[in-house]
Amino acid sequence: MAQREIRFGVIGCGLMGREFASAAARWSHLLEMDVRPRIVGICDADPKTFGWFQDSSPDIKIATGDYQDLLNSSEIDAIYCAVPHNLHERIYIDIINAGKHLLGEKPFGIDLEANARVMDAVRAHPEVLVRCSSEFPFYPGAQRVIQAIQEERFGRILEVRAGFLHSSDLDPRKPINWKRRIATNGAYGCMGDLGLHVLHAPLRAGWAPRNVRAMLTNVVTHRPGPDGAPALCETWDNALLSCEVASGEQAFPMLLETKRIAPGETNTWYLQVYGTEFSAEFSTKYPKTLRTLPYAPGDEQAWRTLDLGPASCYPTITGGIFEFGFSDSILQMWAAFCDEIAHGDAMRQPFRCATPNETAQSHRVFTAALASQAQAQVIAID
Ligand SMILES: NC(=O)c1ccc[n+]([C@@H]2O[C@H](COP(=O)([O-])OP(=O)(O)OC[C@H]3O[C@@H](n4cnc5c(N)ncnc54)[C@H](O)[C@@H]3O)[C@@H](O)[C@H]2O)c1
Repeated sequence: MAQREIRFGVIGCGLMGREFASAAARWSHLLEMDVRPRIVGICDADPKTFGWFQDSSPDIKIATGDYQDLLNSSEIDAIYCAVPHNLHERIYIDIINAGKHLLGEKPFGIDLEANARVMDAVRAHPEVLVRCSSEFPFYPGAQRVIQAIQEERFGRILEVRAGFLHSSDLDPRKPINWKRRIATNGAYGCMGDLGLHVLHAPLRAGWAPRNVRAMLTNVVTHRPGPDGAPALCETWDNALLSCEVASGEQAFPMLLETKRIAPGETNTWYLQVYGTEFSAEFSTKYPKTLRTLPYAPGDEQAWRTLDLGPASCYPTITGGIFEFGFSDSILQMWAAFCDEIAHGDAMRQPFRCATPNETAQSHRVFTAALASQAQAQVIAID
């Protein structure tokens, strides 16, 4: 099949930059795609990151420490930007103003004000596709829960729970990095780092919280600095948000948790929706398993456990009994972004990447959560 090529620049060649390059390198995993990414430029403040990219992405023509070199290149159509949060505002705005499509990383600005200024640039450039990275809803099990939400199968919704229990910062010997400092990660702490992952599917369902009572904790207050001496670890480790949602004629509680310290968990993302007629649960801890409980009055209440195959938004070569994993979710997210650049609303399947508006809604929740923690009160969200 003829494939339209989208020429990408990557700004930030760290952990997530490499995930994109790896997904682009195995694009043939996807079936019947009429669009494909080609990485032609890379930018990082640390040139030591370039070697791996140049070895794995043979079409790279520009490797630079100055991201303006990518924005000035007429050979680049789109940018993936994965840099620390304090740099989102300036670099995202410059990318959008340069007329390049953008898949940016969350939280899409270090705070509400930074996000608002990115949103101004988004509104000023409707010709540019801007989306935010959030891959977990692309798991087949998550998609099944999202589909049930769209089909309004739950009856009266009793409660929604969504969470992201990140790999262990339980070990106090783990050295400090930019994600543990307010100047680079932001005052949101774990919410800025993990929160959009948790809110993406609920916000897509139209379940924006109308208020929040947050409980935030900073457990490990010092970590080894670059010289081994204890350095202040300022950011919130864990956040529990108790929210009220009003949607249509329904009002229900929604519990959100983002945790950097969750004993025994590694990158566990989950979505649980409980209703009077149907309940559904999916967790990446059991990546092939969907749990559902259909219910009619008088029925026995029995959870059904279904092992799903790799039935993803975009079909792949993977055999029908094989399971789906993190790098597959990244590949699916990239397929959605490239498909939407190529086809807009006529993209092959309807689940698009997280939108700038969804990031703005998430910032309102996190900002209210900080106020709730400070005042020990429920805070209304506009
Ligand atoms: N979607 C996900 O699952 C996921 C997972 C982890 C991180 N993230 C997000 O990705 C972003 C980056 O996180 P990461 O874990 O890849 O971080 P990282 O520290 O591994 O990589 C960041 C890179 O940015 C580079 N950089 C710093 N300043 C720069 C500048 N001025 N110009 C160019 N490059 C610069 C650094 O040298 C580094 O290589 C963050 O927004 C983070 O929240 C997303």
